[in-house]
Formats: sequence, C-alpha cells, structure tokens
Amino acid sequence: MDTLEALKEEYIKKYSDKKLVFGEGKTDGGIMLIGEAPGGEEEKFGRPFVGKAGKNLDEFLELAGLDRSSLYISNVVKFRPVSISEKTGRFINRTPSKEEIEDFVPLLMEEIKTYKPRLIVTLGNVPLKAVTGNNRLSIGQCHGKIIEKDNIKIYPLYHPASVIYNRSLKAVYAQDVKEIKKYI
Ligand code: URA
Repeated sequence: MDTLEALKEEYIKKYSDKKLVFGEGKTDGGIMLIGEAPGGEEEKFGRPFVGKAGKNLDEFLELAGLDRSSLYISNVVKFRPVSISEKTGRFINRTPSKEEIEDFVPLLMEEIKTYKPRLIVTLGNVPLKAVTGNNRLSIGQCHGKIIEKDNIKIYPLYHPASVIYNRSLKAVYAQDVKEIKKYI
C-alpha cells in the first residue's frame, strides 16, 4: 500500500464515528481543485462536490472551459462539520475549526506530494490557508493571483457558494475563473 492509502486508513480509524469523503478524479499531475469540507450531499454520496455544491462546480467548469473528468477534486477537511440549528434542531453545515483543519493538513499535503499537480485551485479561505501554510493570507487579497510554493502554482478563488448572493463578487469570481486557462 502506498503512503497516501496507508494515511487514509489511519484517518478512517481515527474518525470511525464519521463518514469521510476523500478526493477523487484524475491523478496525473494536472489541476487539483480543493474545497473546504464536504456538505450533507457529499457525506451521503461519499463524493466531493455533488449536490448543490456540484452545481456550483459545473458552472465553474463551464466558465473555465474544463471538464470534471480532467480534474482531481478534494477538500481540506474530509468529514462534514456540523452544528445544530437552533431554529429547526437539524444538522447544519459549519466552517471547520482551526483544530479540525490542522488535523487534516497532513493528509492534504500527502495528496499533493503523491499526485504532484501542476496547478492547485483553492476555493475560499480555508484551503488557501491550508495549502500555503500561511494563516495571514485572505482570499479578498489573493484571489486570481498565482502563489508559488515548492514549485507548485496555487491559484486562489473565492468559494463559489460564498459568491452566490453577492453580485459584484460573482463578476470578480467569474473573471478569475476564466483566467485559469492562462495557467494550464
Ligand atoms: N463545499 C466544499 O467546499 N466542498 C464540498 O465537497 C462541497 C461543498
């Protein structure tokens, strides 16, 4: 078993009370897309970016002129972080905590080391900080600008779900996405 598979097994054991959603897709050194953490649909199907988030992803792919099958897709945190809604008493998604993110960074680093992507596209603040290892960076300052780390290009984008209700941000996001072509 390779190191990545062995590491996944360790996480499965450690998080035996949770359903983990691992990365999937093309592993030939192309584009790696990294989100924050799975949501409800992702947890249900065991795959990243399906359901509502998958729709966002499809829009993203169309704008970028890319195909889902040409990407490797993963998240920083591999389980669905939830809290309980005061209104409905149901589980709702929440941003992963600092500790949860830190705990999953070694797995993300191993994915990157194993698959050696040419370009990493981060969606939102969580993967931007996790991949660069720099907690002071923010997506507002970094979006659409290449960051180089260990000979890998990182292209930070807003998280598509966060731009839905903000029209001006949506235009910026769309422009950033279109520019991906320059770097692949
Ligand atoms: N949002 C993410 O960041 N990742 C997913 O897999 C789904 C929604």
